[in-house]
Amino acid sequence: MQLQLASWPDIESYLARTHGILVPIGSTEQHGPTGFLGTDAIAAETVARGAGEAAGALVAPTIAIGMAEHHMAFPGTITLRPSTLIAYVRDYVLSLAAHGFARFLFVNGHGGNVPTVKAAFYEIEAERRARGQGEDGDFRCRIVNWYDGPTVSSVIRQTFGAREGSHATPSEVSVTLHAYPDHRHDRPLDPPVASGSPFYGAADFRRRHPDGRIGSDPSLASAEHGRRIAEAAIADLATHYRGFMAER
Ligand code: NI
Repeated sequence: MQLQLASWPDIESYLARTHGILVPIGSTEQHGPTGFLGTDAIAAETVARGAGEAAGALVAPTIAIGMAEHHMAFPGTITLRPSTLIAYVRDYVLSLAAHGFARFLFVNGHGGNVPTVKAAFYEIEAERRARGQGEDGDFRCRIVNWYDGPTVSSVIRQTFGAREGSHATPSEVSVTLHAYPDHRHDRPLDPPVASGSPFYGAADFRRRHPDGRIGSDPSLASAEHGRRIAEAAIADLATHYRGFMAER
């Protein structure tokens, strides 16, 4: 069930049964010459919705803009500074917590969000402690990357090997093509596998990685690979969610 397609009585009866929720979070940032700007948000949303169906979990609205400062030398990228994203996540979680939600599993599609979202979780913890809440330890927030589960990571490794790279990867582009098969962008990629060197800030990123990719060959992407990868990620995430809900 998606929160934005539910009515308030639906949420009230859901909360009478359980207090867990999946929160997809991505980014709107360049993904090389062939990947959608919305890749990270679309992939996280696809996996979260599938796992929500499989595990009977409510899926919250996708946080589609993240911390993408290092991609700002490419047009179309939108970023929240870390302090803005912390405030956004804090208000988002505390709104749902006010209704009784207590287990928040963030399903992340953008590695660059992780430090900021973890900082937001500590802000939330500090605020709840100041209010005298949370003494029972039942309230928990966690963030997982959709591509890090044991099954999906092995499917990705077997499918793309070293050509997976770390940004504008064939696996994430495949999942978006599975979700939107009519929106494929084909462009020549030169070199076929991008360099994987580190970078310092947005201008240096573009200087070292002129087409936006890092270490990847997204020409290998296909909707069919995306279907297999998404299925593996959904199974991993549904298992992870059930475990998270069973923790005491
Ligand atoms: Ni990405």
